[in-house]
Amino acid sequence: MLINIITLFPEMFAGVLQQSILGRARQGNYVEIHLKDLREFGIGSHKVVDDAPFGGGGGMILKPEPIAAALEDLGQAGHVIITTPRGKHFQHPDAVRLSRMKAITIICGHYEGIDERITELFADEELSIGDYVLTGGEIPAMVIADAVTRLIPGVLGKDTLETGDSHYKGMLEHPHYTRPREFRGIVVPEVLLSGNHEEIRIWRKKMAFQKTRSVRPDMLLRENDFDTDNLDREEE
Ligand code: ADE
Repeated sequence: MLINIITLFPEMFAGVLQQSILGRARQGNYVEIHLKDLREFGIGSHKVVDDAPFGGGGGMILKPEPIAAALEDLGQAGHVIITTPRGKHFQHPDAVRLSRMKAITIICGHYEGIDERITELFADEELSIGDYVLTGGEIPAMVIADAVTRLIPGVLGKDTLETGDSHYKGMLEHPHYTRPREFRGIVVPEVLLSGNHEEIRIWRKKMAFQKTRSVRPDMLLRENDFDTDNLDREEE
């Protein structure tokens, strides 16, 4: 898969793209990530990329010409995304959908926003990573690239859709424990040491349900494959 990122701050991506799973996914050729420096497409000797908004108001707007030129300079743009707090919420099903594409291009928004004609002419969608305003679209672009890359088959070493990934099953994750059995007076729940896989499965499901009900009850209201009737029966 190809992920292009058009940004005014390509240096921000260096660490994230080299480390851990993203770094390995690139080395293993599961994903190719191309950074396009928007400044290179700026206008005139000062490489201007922004201007004041028509109609007045504060802040600066990213001009359309440099972004169009950067997009047209890409070999393959594929599905074009703009990161902006006014976009649709980026959620797990979006990561799955994007991970199945051959190529995506993320345009990192900045300042007060991007000239609307870029959205109209080139964007397939606008995505927000949450209801807060960041200083730019670079961190959202990293979030999207990371969430998408880990879903590409082979990247995590096993088929991720078969794991107990929280959000994939519409539930938050159950608690996890590793050695030692006791840490600062807190003992690992006995059931996890029992070797009884069926009991462990039921315990995990119950804990996931309790956690979700307590911190994200909205998830339980959505359609998902979690059968709460069965849980009650299993609890009896
Ligand atoms: N740019 C600034 N804030 C953002 C957000 N929450 N999501 C996506 N892009 C953004």
